[in-house]
Amino acid sequence: MSEPLRIGLVGTGWIGRFHAESIATRVPGATLAAVADPDLDAASSIRAPRSYADPLDLIADPEVEAVAISSPATTHTDLVVAAARAGKHVFCEKPMAVTLADADRAIEAAESAGVALQVGFNRRFDTDFAAMHDAIAAGAIGTPQLLRSLTRDPGISAEVAARVKPWTIFNETLIHDFDTLCWLNPGARVTSVYAQAAALIHPQYADAGYLDTSVVQLRFDNGAFATAEASFQAVYGYDVRGEVFGSEGVLLAGRDPEHAGRLNTELFAHAYTAQFAHFASSVRSGRQPAVTGHDARIALEIALAAAESVRTGAPVELAGAVPA
Ligand SMILES: NC(=O)c1ccc[n+]([C@@H]2O[C@H](COP(=O)([O-])OP(=O)(O)OC[C@H]3O[C@@H](n4cnc5c(N)ncnc54)[C@H](O)[C@@H]3O)[C@@H](O)[C@H]2O)c1
Repeated sequence: MSEPLRIGLVGTGWIGRFHAESIATRVPGATLAAVADPDLDAASSIRAPRSYADPLDLIADPEVEAVAISSPATTHTDLVVAAARAGKHVFCEKPMAVTLADADRAIEAAESAGVALQVGFNRRFDTDFAAMHDAIAAGAIGTPQLLRSLTRDPGISAEVAARVKPWTIFNETLIHDFDTLCWLNPGARVTSVYAQAAALIHPQYADAGYLDTSVVQLRFDNGAFATAEASFQAVYGYDVRGEVFGSEGVLLAGRDPEHAGRLNTELFAHAYTAQFAHFASSVRSGRQPAVTGHDARIALEIALAAAESVRTGAPVELAGAVPA
């Protein structure tokens, strides 16, 4: 048995607190070595051997072998690069970057440092979604032709909606669906993206660029069509589902809406733990994790194209990042 991976966690907000608790108590093969947050009170309220206000101090801590990043999206790339340059393995919440240039910077930093880089596409570790993926990869439904993925968050107050950054619905919500759809259509590449979006829940913020409801159509180079849809407010709870229709059958993943979880941390409790267990075992065995920086770049490219499609009202053709 190898020593548990000593993870330092940066960003102790909503999901960071949950990840810190998972790493400290539930993730096999990992232990929580330190936490960091500019809001030191938030960091210090977590039971960890050390708390820092400055993430760079956590990264420099010799007790920290790997860094988990769950700070706001715009801070991710610089933290990935700083951690990789310090020789630390990196787990980064989605989105790994908010521009393709930054995605390339993060990938390059991890590759040249020779450290592991995993991105928080937790749906890949959900038992239901993973079973669907494995069946598709084994040819159980032939060639995928029509794919669907949806995310419905349980709700958003007007106060929070007023602070949501433009394009969050693509960069932080539907980016999960874009990754899921690419993963469920193995080896295929998205060639075009057409998106429509609106503010149906809090229309008073539409003029500020706030969007809470969207449908996105994707076309793949193996001919398949996909639809991703999102809403920030499902009154019945957090609802995530997927469906792949192929030449030989159909597969579904996700709970019936009647049994939707109240929160993502309920619906994906196992997946959140499993993704860190995978990260720890990948580092210890010297393998790159299954969800890479290249996967994050592919999903980001689709998210950026969806935003452009809403801006222009037209489909956007993708230049073609080839999956690594
Ligand atoms: N995979 C998932 O299902 C999932 C779920 C929720 C959030 N997320 C992602 O996790 C990230 C955080 O989301 P959240 O909802 O927890 O946000 P949040 O606002 O609740 O928490 C962010 C925390 O980061 C801290 N912070 C701010 N600047 C920082 C910096 N420069 N360095 C370190 N920490 C800093 C803040 O003080 C705050 O405590 C986002 O990228 C989000 O998309 C992923």
